[in-house]
Amino acid sequence: MTDVALVELTVNGERHDLVIPPRRTLADVLRHDLGLTGTHVGCEHGICGACTVLVDGAPARACLIFAVQVENSAIRTVESLSGPDGELSDLQSCFAEHHGLQCGFCTPGFLMLAEGHLAESPDATREEIREVVASNLCRCTGYQTIVDAVEDCAGRRRAALRARLDGVSA
Ligand code: FES
Ligand code: FES
Repeated sequence: MTDVALVELTVNGERHDLVIPPRRTLADVLRHDLGLTGTHVGCEHGICGACTVLVDGAPARACLIFAVQVENSAIRTVESLSGPDGELSDLQSCFAEHHGLQCGFCTPGFLMLAEGHLAESPDATREEIREVVASNLCRCTGYQTIVDAVEDCAGRRRAALRARLDGVSA
């Protein structure tokens, strides 16, 4: 049995060639091999969601995935959200404005969960957002402010899209 495997991963648009044990998790590769420590690790068995990243646009628990399983996928971590000069994305700004974080340990997971969900369901209702965020654990906020932040971001994105469409048809 081979102890290591050559794995090609595409993370935040960059390709990486890695020589790693076949059973190394995506969370460990992101944090320890690529230095992307924004992906947090809490329970390490799929419960807390702190390790949530996007795999081909869909939220996934990085602690439950072996890196070799996602060789042909596009991975996005929380580091991909901010702009080139570190400016916050609209979603991150909404979390800041609505106080959607306290200790912040869970925040990267919530951001990626919301980013993936809003891309798939831009018309998400507050009820849907409540159901989605319930899949991750936060010990500090009571969730209301996280729901407020995601709902506000969804509304801002819809308004921006409407404005663009109005501009095109004018
Ligand atoms: S660390 Fe992955 S779900 Fe908790
Ligand atoms: S802000 Fe502390 S766990 Fe969520």
